Amino acid sequence: MEFEQIMKERYATKLFDKRKIPEEKIQKLIDIIRLTPSSYNLQPWKIKIISDDETKKKLMPASFNQKQIETCSHLLVLCADIDILTRLEKITKVMKENGIEDSKIKAYSSMIKEVVKSMKKEEILNWTQKQVYILLANTLNAAKHLGLDSCPMEGFEPKEYSKILNLPKNLIPTVLCPIGYAADTPRKKIRLEKEDIIF
Ligand SMILES: Cc1cc2nc3c(=O)[nH]c(=O)nc-3n(C[C@H](O)[C@H](O)[C@H](O)COP(=O)(O)O)c2cc1C
Repeated sequence: MEFEQIMKERYATKLFDKRKIPEEKIQKLIDIIRLTPSSYNLQPWKIKIISDDETKKKLMPASFNQKQIETCSHLLVLCADIDILTRLEKITKVMKENGIEDSKIKAYSSMIKEVVKSMKKEEILNWTQKQVYILLANTLNAAKHLGLDSCPMEGFEPKEYSKILNLPKNLIPTVLCPIGYAADTPRKKIRLEKEDIIF
């Protein structure tokens, strides 16, 4: 699908038909969205993918009972990873495997450590969560590209999600992206005029 068409046809789906997305399509989606850019290429996110009905049901009260949660095929819980130094360890290992010079990796690593040292915990959370929203945008559009419907969702209780999903402390549920096959009717795109957003 052309990108313009994806932008026009993707919409915030309110109800899915419960059909399951084939596993290879999920894998394809992951292959696409893992290319998402991030600050210093730290990729400070981790996605919890939930496809079993029991867990989705448990998450309903923590999601203001929004129907997308229990009717989607797969619920993607996009988490910010605030443990930047562990992310750094991982990315420097991958850089090495990709033939990046040791001196470059060392300089990069020292710089990131300085950046992290200068930030308060809340600043790191804010910074990593901003990156997660870039991942969200790509996930919505990649899903449509693969013929899937989705809904960006902030209407949930992150602390409850952490408890129900037993998430480690470094992973902060930030935004949800249920995906599947729509069972509602797309609504008309309502957007501000160009002059309201460009100056
Ligand atoms: C960050 C974010 C959070 C949102 N949270 C919810 C939500 O919790 N529930 C919901 O039904 N829609 C949610 N929406 C959908 C928006 O209402 C929708 O994207 C907007 O009205 C534009 O409509 P469209 O996506 O169909 O073009 C959210 C959208 C974004 C980008």
